[in-house]
Amino acid sequence: MKLIKLLVVPILLLNTNFLKSQTYDTVWLSSLDISKATIGWGKPGKDVSCMGNPIILNGKTYKKGFGTHASSIFYLKLNGGSARFHALVGINDEEKASSGSAVFKVYSNNDLLWQSGILKSGGPEEVVDISMANIDTLILCTETTADGPNYDHTDWADSYFLVKNTFPVAIDKPFEPAIILTPKVPLTPRINGPKIYGSRPGNDFLFRISATGERPIAFTANGLPSGLTLDAKTGIITGKIKQAGKYEVNLTTTNKLGKNSRKLTIVCGNQIALTPPLGWNSWNCFACDVDEKKVKAAANAMVNSGLADHGWSYINIDDCWMVKPESDDSIVGGKTRDAQGNMNTNKKFPDMKGLADYIHSLGLKIGTYSGPGPKTCAGYTACYQFEEKDAQRFADWGFDYLKYDWCDYELIAKDHSLPELKKPYSVMQNALGKTNRDIVYSLCQYGMGDVWEWGAEVGGNCWRTTGDITDDWSSVESIGFGQAGHEAFAGPGHWNDPDMLVVGKVGWGPQLHYTRLSPNEQYTHISLWALLAAPLLIGCDMTQMDEFTYSLLSNDEVLDVNQDILGKQASRIVQYDGLEVWSKELEDGSKAVGLFNRGLFPASLTVTWKDLGISGTYTVRDLWPQTDEGKFDQKYTATIPAHGVKLVRVYK
Ligand code: GLA
Repeated sequence: MKLIKLLVVPILLLNTNFLKSQTYDTVWLSSLDISKATIGWGKPGKDVSCMGNPIILNGKTYKKGFGTHASSIFYLKLNGGSARFHALVGINDEEKASSGSAVFKVYSNNDLLWQSGILKSGGPEEVVDISMANIDTLILCTETTADGPNYDHTDWADSYFLVKNTFPVAIDKPFEPAIILTPKVPLTPRINGPKIYGSRPGNDFLFRISATGERPIAFTANGLPSGLTLDAKTGIITGKIKQAGKYEVNLTTTNKLGKNSRKLTIVCGNQIALTPPLGWNSWNCFACDVDEKKVKAAANAMVNSGLADHGWSYINIDDCWMVKPESDDSIVGGKTRDAQGNMNTNKKFPDMKGLADYIHSLGLKIGTYSGPGPKTCAGYTACYQFEEKDAQRFADWGFDYLKYDWCDYELIAKDHSLPELKKPYSVMQNALGKTNRDIVYSLCQYGMGDVWEWGAEVGGNCWRTTGDITDDWSSVESIGFGQAGHEAFAGPGHWNDPDMLVVGKVGWGPQLHYTRLSPNEQYTHISLWALLAAPLLIGCDMTQMDEFTYSLLSNDEVLDVNQDILGKQASRIVQYDGLEVWSKELEDGSKAVGLFNRGLFPASLTVTWKDLGISGTYTVRDLWPQTDEGKFDQKYTATIPAHGVKLVRVYK
């Protein structure tokens, strides 16, 4: 730690009277262990920005400073030993041409000591110069504003403490225990998962009845449309429905402890994905390190862990299963297509049909990935000018889901006008339409041209509304809460997709790490995605799931919010001071309500029945522990942990 003895008389003149001609040590903020800071993107910068560039605010370069990226948080123990904290704060000029904006905050425990205005890229900096008298724990934060975290390169320039005796020390964020709220499932049989399922006439049909309870379980299904049969031991329904129509099927599950029944509506018509897809995708854990063995292991884990008994069904391979043109690597290089122009797999996927058959034999479905450009995002072969051939190949292999990623089509598109944005997606829509297979069509183009307004028109069953998610709070927070306003465009068969889940062990392969989200942030992530009626695609290595991660993904009452047959996406109905309430209507007339705290400290939050458009007495059910909280008149109040949530159902 580098110290400079300083006589503070000039500061005394500028600021206060209390420093009376005492000698203080100057401790630069950047001399502390800045690796303890959590920042939204990049690396905590010692005398440099989060990108490693000089600290420059509003044209002026500072030798000393601490470079962060919103949202960021840095805990310090002062033990009452410091006299003042000083810094110049702003957004680094490296983002001058961009639209970064953030707010800086300084807390002593829960008390806000100082707060900047909204500081913008290239705009003027602000001075923080505040007394640290008697302060024990100091928290330095930067927060994103409504425009999200992009370009928020927040710098604490020329930042130092004047220290009387005890030096400040950087400390870890307070430990937050991972408390499991989801109750254990009963041993008696219970049917879970979607209550409605869509398919098209004449196409292969596959539906695994999701049921928890002690095995063996015997399944029955009364009222199945002609062409379908049930395997009474596995609960897997297969076949082809010839006649379009709506079929009400009565499912039962029986084991030695009891019996449970539930209605399943099968709608055979034009539309599939009548509830948001529930599954897994290889990207957030393995990225290009994916191979057949890992995909099979994921499918086995989905069944063996019990997740498939809660409604999870898709096993989706993301990028990197094809041949990589011009690659010298004998595993992924080679001939991109065969003599007939059919797309080849690389050597990590020696038998795609065999893999699909295996996954289907478990009652699960399999998804694939490609794009409209010549290459995928990772530089592998994609569908450009082979769309019909490739769609047919995907169908022949037995794929049930296609994520179609814009990426390299950027080189082909003339511009980002609506016709250019829609074109490649319509081409693949037509190609898929000719395959006679139910393939969920997932558009991935990061929200360009407000895709939610026209994604359904080009056949999309879901469309990514954002760029890629990462496993940190600023990403999950900005993407999740940024979905407000898209609700009008979601509904059965067509969903907004705020990207995949980042709980559990993720890492974009080959090295995996446990999600950097705190336990409360993980509750927020899953609760919000459930309310948003988002496709839920698990992003972790399911073979390494701990009990906490499993509990987040196997809560049937939370999943029911996501899978509700009305298909509504929640709206934000209350928003103030970092507190938000989101709500959506459910099929049984009740409301699913999320009370969220985006702030750094626990806070009390009230939702009134007026906010929810109801009046009278209602029961509030806490969905994570699955317990009723009691009856409430006109309003409900709860204390919400920092970055946490209370997810409830309000019912008569
Ligand atoms: C893009 C997508 C990701 C993933 C990668 C694969 O970045 O947004 O979800 O599919 O491509 O290369």
